[in-house]
Formats: sequence, C-alpha cells, structure tokens
Amino acid sequence: MPPGRLIGLLFFEASTRTRLSFEIAIQRLGGRTTFFDGASKEGTSLIKGETLEDTFWTLHAMLPDMIIIRCGDEFPLRKVAELAKMPIVNAGYGTEGHPTQAILDTYTMSEYLPTLENKNILFIGDIRHSRVAHSHMELLPKLGANMGVVGPKEFLQGLPSNIQTFTSLKEAIPWADVCMGLRIQFERHSASDTFSREDFITQYQMDKTIEPLLKKDALILHPGPVNWGVELHPNIRELSNFKMFEQKQNGVFTRAALLSRMFEKSTQGSLSHD
Ligand code: CP
Repeated sequence: MPPGRLIGLLFFEASTRTRLSFEIAIQRLGGRTTFFDGASKEGTSLIKGETLEDTFWTLHAMLPDMIIIRCGDEFPLRKVAELAKMPIVNAGYGTEGHPTQAILDTYTMSEYLPTLENKNILFIGDIRHSRVAHSHMELLPKLGANMGVVGPKEFLQGLPSNIQTFTSLKEAIPWADVCMGLRIQFERHSASDTFSREDFITQYQMDKTIEPLLKKDALILHPGPVNWGVELHPNIRELSNFKMFEQKQNGVFTRAALLSRMFEKSTQGSLSHD
C-alpha cells in the first residue's frame, strides 16, 4: 500500500476483531485511519436523526482513499459501493456476508491442512444469522472444500443443496476436517424464534470431551466473539486442535494483504469493489 493513505472506518455495528485488525494492518502498512462509531452513535449526528446513508455520503465527500464499512442488512451497501469514487470494503454486512472473515478463516485452515480440496468444513449452531457462514458458502466451493452444518433445525432452513446436514455432533464431528463454532446471535433473534439455550448447550456445545470423535489433524475454530459456556466450553482451550487465537492474528495478516492488493490493482486501473 502506498504510504500515507487515509482510510475511513464506518462502523454502524459493534466490532473488536475486525476493527482492530484493519486498523493495525493499515498502520503497519504506513497508512492512517479515521473511525466513525456508528454503533454507539455517541457524539455523532445519528443522534439527531441523520440517516446511515447520509452519514456514508458525508464521509465519502471528504475523500478518504478507501472506506471500510460494517453495517446491518438495512444499509444499501451494494448501491453505495457501485456509486462510490473510492474502494469500499465489506467488514461485516448484516446476515449477508463477512468476506474478510472467511478469507482469514481459510488462511488459518491452510496453515495446518496441506490443501482444502475435498476437505470437510463443519459449521455448528446459528447458521441462519451468521454472515461468516454465508461468506463461506461462496468461498469454500471455490477452494474445492465441502461444507456441512449441524444445529437446531430452525437455524438450518433454506440452505443450498450442496451443503450436508447432520443431526448430531456425534455424527458430524468424525466427518469434519474443521469444526467451526458460530456465535449464537441472540440480538438477531425474533420473538418467533424458539431457540432454547439449555437444549443447545446439551446438544451442540463443543468441549474437550469431543477429542475422541475428532480426526487426528482436525481443527477447531470460531470467528469470535464467543459466548463462552454456550457454543464453546472454556475447557476446549486445552485441546491443541483449537486455533482461535491464530485466527485473530491472521486477521491482521490477511487484511493487510487484501488492502495492499486492492491499492496495487487500483494503481493498475482495474479496482474491484467486491
Ligand atoms: N469475527 C468478528 O467479526 O468479530 P468482531 O465482531 O469483534 O469484529
């Protein structure tokens, strides 16, 4: 990335990992950031009723070199990305997608597995509300990997037919080369959701007792943040297969690589906004 680039981070939803890793990646590459806290709204004109889209165009008018956005499904991300004068990066879009998380996850897998071709990647839990799982539905087939899911039925409806569905952890874990826990997204559940926290813990929580079911080199991942005691028992950290901390570190490396590549392509005049 050419030094001195100024990148705007427009975050309408809360974040720790994605925000910090983008900021650290940008600063390591010699760039600078300006952060807009649209999640708390504190000290911003969102409190006065300004719309999210007007907020975007306000930052856009000030011409940062790139805008990185985290937003909910209600934000017109595709429209602004098409109209914007500078590159727009999706840092988590409602339930639709979180492409840079899928990239860092697959990079982490590739550090331990010689190839992802024909490898089985299992997603556990709240697939329906998971933008991470939705991005993996796009990325994993491109890498030749197979995707499987297990969890409460209400979270598994309407999935593409190439995704294998399992009915229990006992059945699913021996199939998997990677077991990816997903955060239960309580904040996206509606009154019609019949989710039972207690039933989920009994049937789908991963703890260290899954070890005999795991393939020898299988990985256990979680994009974070974790609801400890729900998706994962704290004793899962005792298994050497558990690589969540490597995922966090790889967030910096992969986002730095992405930003460098995007600026490289923009100087060649063929920048994609996807
Ligand atoms: N995985 C992830 O996107 O985490 P944050 O919400 O903390 O950025």
